[in-house]
Amino acid sequence: MTPIRDAYPIDPDGEAGFTVEAARMKFGPGMLAELGGDAEQLGMRRVALFTDPRVAATAPFGSALDSLKRAGLDVVVFDRCRVEPTSASFLDAADFAREGNFDGYVSIGGGSVIDTAKAANLYASHPADFLAYVNKPLGEGRPVPGPVKPHIACPTTCGTGSETTGVAIFDHVERQVKTGISSRFLRPTLAVVDPRTIDSLPPGAIAATGFDVLTHAIESHTARPYRSRPRPENSAARPPYQGANPWSDIGSLQAIRLGGTWLERAVNDPDDAEARDALMFAATLAGLAFGNAGVHIPHAMSYSVAGMNHSFTATGYEAVDPMVPHGVSVVLNAPAAFRFTGPAAPEAHLRAAEALGADVRGAGPQDGGELLATRLIAMMRATGLPNGLSALGYGKADIPGLVRGAAAQQRLLTIAPRPVSEDDLRGLYAAAMRYW
Ligand SMILES: NC(=O)c1ccc[n+]([C@@H]2O[C@H](COP(=O)([O-])OP(=O)(O)OC[C@H]3O[C@@H](n4cnc5c(N)ncnc54)[C@H](O)[C@@H]3O)[C@@H](O)[C@H]2O)c1
Ligand SMILES: [Fe+2]
Repeated sequence: MTPIRDAYPIDPDGEAGFTVEAARMKFGPGMLAELGGDAEQLGMRRVALFTDPRVAATAPFGSALDSLKRAGLDVVVFDRCRVEPTSASFLDAADFAREGNFDGYVSIGGGSVIDTAKAANLYASHPADFLAYVNKPLGEGRPVPGPVKPHIACPTTCGTGSETTGVAIFDHVERQVKTGISSRFLRPTLAVVDPRTIDSLPPGAIAATGFDVLTHAIESHTARPYRSRPRPENSAARPPYQGANPWSDIGSLQAIRLGGTWLERAVNDPDDAEARDALMFAATLAGLAFGNAGVHIPHAMSYSVAGMNHSFTATGYEAVDPMVPHGVSVVLNAPAAFRFTGPAAPEAHLRAAEALGADVRGAGPQDGGELLATRLIAMMRATGLPNGLSALGYGKADIPGLVRGAAAQQRLLTIAPRPVSEDDLRGLYAAAMRYW
């Protein structure tokens, strides 16, 4: 097996350290039934319970609500979380939170629900104009002034890792761009990961969220090494996305291995609990890794892919308004992106390809990007994903708009292992149009 990276090149002017802001979490089937005790231990009395109508109808949600009530907590359910939140839906949730005077938040749902709870908690705790805390350049990028109320996040998809990150993402509909709010204060106080929640996810949603997991892990692992960043002036200036580091590599590589082994089974056999449990754990590991290392080109490219298309309906998402699911909008860029980044971090790409299950016999580091791309494409085909951006309805004429959206994601692009120009982005979108 290709050895795990044992050294990071030292740059005398470069970064010298990295921080680990690990989330507190609990993992295991049935853990949602313990939620009441968890909330009580965090001092919650009056709880805002965020979810969406589909999740609210599932058995694990019912057992979580029961448990909160049995603990004697005053629970108010907010089930209007929008799938793929927008600035308007964040504001709606923030109004609910402000008026409700809650001392704690619980979110049970996918990334859309967890992110909505983070935003509601933030604006109720530290009221401000909506754009104040939103990342630059769309927002002011003002730092969140301090802690928010306790938040227990319980994911019901196996993708975003939002339960362990300090990020809340939304779609700015007017500007046709996805962006977010980032602060370590937004990281949930506790993550409760119960793999039984994903039993009710349709196979198409397992595929979309599962590929989100894989791209988090692969992008974290192939990100520029943390020591290649300039040394920050002081510890507060060290960014949350630090680049690949010895700690993030542990989670990212293992998540890639788990995804490579179990994703296809988890999608193609809904009764395979073992596969779904493994994928859920991979999602958690990848979330821990990318929350600390960062993601780069496939995610940077995904924002405009999702933001500009409002007419696509993915398999498994027939019940919601047309939109490109996040994981689909990311993974369709990934093979093109890894072919491009391969030469800049050959060993990391080869290690990722091998962990994902590519046959690396006789291969050298220079083959890493191609092997990784080829293996990903094979997995996309085996799980019924669209064949590139053209299958979403994009064509050549859309490339300038797509590039504009991606070029705005400098926070992510600077974590790529090589510089990315607008010209490069044009080439990457063209290469992502069709894979087979
Ligand atoms: N904050 C972060 O760190 C972070 C990271 C990556 C992505 N995101 C964001 O997360 C969002 C996507 O989240 P997601 O992929 O988890 O999905 P989602 O929350 O958007 O949900 C997708 C669909 O699945 C349904 N669903 C969710 N759980 C279900 C279950 N257990 N059974 C049946 N149906 C279920 C939902 O009702 C919805 O229709 C995007 O907005 C994305 O930008 C956030
Ligand atoms: Fe993602």
